[in-house]
Amino acid sequence: MRFFKFKTLEELIAEVEKLGLGEVLKFDENLELIFQPIEIGRLKIGNRFAIHPMEGCDGTLDGKPDELTFRRWEKFGAGGAKLIWGEATAVVEEGRANPRQLWLNEKNLKLFAELVEKTRQAHKKIWGDDSDLVIGIQLTHSGRWSYKKPIIAFHNPVVDKLTFIDKDKKISIDESYPVVSDDYLEKLEDEFVKCAKLAYEVGFQFIDIKQCHTYLLNELLAGKTREGKYGGDFQNRTKFIRNVVTKIKSELGEKIFIASRINVFDCVPFVKDDDGVGKSVEYPLPYLFGFGVKENNPLEPDLTEPIKLVEILCSLGVKIINISMGSPYYNPHIGRPFETPPIDGYIQPEHPLIGVARHFKLTAEIKKAVDSLNNLTDKVLVVGTGYSYLREFFVYAGEANLKENKVSIVGVGRGALAYPDFVYDLKRYGRLNSSKVCITISHCTNLMRSKHNELGQFPAGCVPRDKVYAEIFKVAREKLRK
Ligand SMILES: Cc1cc2nc3c(=O)[nH]c(=O)nc-3n(C[C@H](O)[C@H](O)[C@H](O)COP(=O)(O)O)c2cc1C
Repeated sequence: MRFFKFKTLEELIAEVEKLGLGEVLKFDENLELIFQPIEIGRLKIGNRFAIHPMEGCDGTLDGKPDELTFRRWEKFGAGGAKLIWGEATAVVEEGRANPRQLWLNEKNLKLFAELVEKTRQAHKKIWGDDSDLVIGIQLTHSGRWSYKKPIIAFHNPVVDKLTFIDKDKKISIDESYPVVSDDYLEKLEDEFVKCAKLAYEVGFQFIDIKQCHTYLLNELLAGKTREGKYGGDFQNRTKFIRNVVTKIKSELGEKIFIASRINVFDCVPFVKDDDGVGKSVEYPLPYLFGFGVKENNPLEPDLTEPIKLVEILCSLGVKIINISMGSPYYNPHIGRPFETPPIDGYIQPEHPLIGVARHFKLTAEIKKAVDSLNNLTDKVLVVGTGYSYLREFFVYAGEANLKENKVSIVGVGRGALAYPDFVYDLKRYGRLNSSKVCITISHCTNLMRSKHNELGQFPAGCVPRDKVYAEIFKVAREKLRK
């Protein structure tokens, strides 16, 4: 199925109108705001482009940044986006999503410091000045999706079936599988605090406490059925994040900014139907297992709790909120609208533009809620997601969203892997090059899912646009065939 067939902005707009999305998905070719700086406390971010956290699964087995990590980060640095949101980095070994995920600890500090420094140097080399470049790191625990063994906050009857102890043999967890203890979580809070201090030491300007994509902290937000002090009511479900933010604030004050990437809508798992198209699995009602979902229809968002969460985060001093949704493991079309599915995915059950519009709409609602908080001393920034599907036209959507105050910063994920120097081209030529943009055919995700080499993980990057990853993909495919 081919969805994206637009050669001009007019053709894209015609499709947007046909789908009835014109009110949400707007475009503005007069690029002004997108190049304007914005302040976050004492720091200035030189334009409104962010590189989203994009894991390359290319660290060393002990979690240090390696050759390809440096290559990717330096490309992001040189590219010209002024907010670089460093990728998912584990705070403890058992919380790593794959054996090559970065892991911040005392032994790895030197290389993390070098990573920050080299990224800044790459930026300076092209742009002359890096005083308005802001670089942070995403701190995470992969919870249910940890590669060694699932660490779950509660049993989710539908997601448990997709949570494997042995993926090859398709053995998933059952009701007897243990739920992570309160004691473990209490200690884990301190691991986040410890890593925040390390992140500061190596030169990151902000840390993101990751609460998205159904990893552990996202799952805690949804733990209505969890017993004990981290589960049940909203107060308990937000205890972990409130404690972590408060402790980091008290230890580090204003030395480092706190950010958080949050899921505002988990949705439910999707699987292939007989034609390979995505369909939601059967789920019990009320659905008590998702964050930001309607309990009586979890296919639809309910922002009541995400807005409450954002208000809490703002009141605790979090300065940047990055909005995301869905799970890469069980409903990838929600988080990353695509043209061709990943190997473990399904054909889009909706036009991908509907997914883009969902991102924009929910982000605008969060932005509105943040702006209405008048007790804040500083403005809290809201970073939006879902732009890459729009290829070379995403900058016009970003500009329109900025002009309508629906977002503070335009975040680019897959688009930045494909085209890390997109800001450079935009400045130089006034538009993006259609032969360099991401075409959302999911090979970056396919590489992430490829585990069959001696390290247990292939590195992820842009297969169609970057020769290095085209070669890696060839090897991965060849090995898979054998
Ligand atoms: C290869 C790959 C790696 C990713 N790594 C991360 C990550 O480390 N942390 C995170 O929050 N999201 C991660 N994401 C999700 C992206 O940041 C982003 O939310 C998603 O791709 C949708 O944005 P886009 O349409 O601009 O690509 C990753 C996505 C892909 C495809």
